[in-house]
Amino acid sequence: TSPFAPRHLLSIADLTPAELTTLVRNASSHKTAIKSGSVPKNLLGSLSGKTVAMMFNKRSTRTRVSTEAAVATMGGHAMFLGKDDIQLGVNESLYDTSLIISSMTSCMVARVGDHSEVADLAKHSSVPVINALSNDYHPLQTIADFLTIYEAFPSSSRSLGGTPGLGLEGLKIAWIGDSNNVLFDLAIGALKLGVNISVASPKGFTIPPAMLEIINSSTSGVSSPGKLTQTHVPEEAIKDADILVTDTWVSMGQEAEKVKRMKAFDGYQITNELAKRGGANEGWKFMHCLPRHPEEVADEVFYGPRSLVFQEGENRLWAAISALEGFVVNKGKIA
Ligand code: CP
Ligand code: NVA
Repeated sequence: TSPFAPRHLLSIADLTPAELTTLVRNASSHKTAIKSGSVPKNLLGSLSGKTVAMMFNKRSTRTRVSTEAAVATMGGHAMFLGKDDIQLGVNESLYDTSLIISSMTSCMVARVGDHSEVADLAKHSSVPVINALSNDYHPLQTIADFLTIYEAFPSSSRSLGGTPGLGLEGLKIAWIGDSNNVLFDLAIGALKLGVNISVASPKGFTIPPAMLEIINSSTSGVSSPGKLTQTHVPEEAIKDADILVTDTWVSMGQEAEKVKRMKAFDGYQITNELAKRGGANEGWKFMHCLPRHPEEVADEVFYGPRSLVFQEGENRLWAAISALEGFVVNKGKIA
């Protein structure tokens, strides 16, 4: 790598706890400022004259709209390149694609299948690459998720006021469902921020050993990391949880396994009854990255008063602004 190698955001594992905290805090303060009508000076025109290439091999609502809106807010141009528009891993090597696109733009935001595809783009890119979802990670979602948790569980409400971090230490997340990309980055972020996470998934759908190793080793150097536990029993994960989370049982690219998966996840639907039976904390909240299907969470929860899902969705915009500021405007210096 050259001395000018850019810094990329491929996974939350790339961030220190302090950097993740800063990205969430900046997202929060930009949200407050922009919603009250003023774009902060350091953001205004910060991407002026710059192009952000958005290379998406899979469908997207939130990631696409939040990234385009973030770039517009910062005065830049977002260039959306769908899977039939460019040669991304088809008919041209990722090496060639990366060299060409990075020579003409200021950032590549890429949604791919295999994580190696976005890692390859990053390896050869002269500009920052931001992972917009791979089969292994979804860092922009995790930043938005911790912003949502930060808003819903202010440290003042748990006598942690004045802490330099986000003050989320000791909270417990229960993930009920598939062990997937969204979970992996959420778990890495949780452990880094001192948040405990308990994962309930059926046999055959637990966290693969190599990923478990990555998640657990991402806490090296963290003074009081959160703890990750796994079970096959949803009620066990839910015990004393503050936040119940799930995602689709059939991620993009797994469509052929749909029948098998629906069967395997029978009994994992999040309902008020399940939360009660499991013994979730009284003030429990529900989160989901979306898109949502009724099988993984009942309407009464998804559209109910405990649901944070639409706030969480909106927070993708503030997370995107914060990530672009950190990785493109400030070139990875996230103080
Ligand atoms: N949560 C999320 O990434 O949604 P999209 O797939 O619609 O971008
Ligand atoms: N796990 C889902 C997340 C979509 C945002 C998928 O990979 O399809």
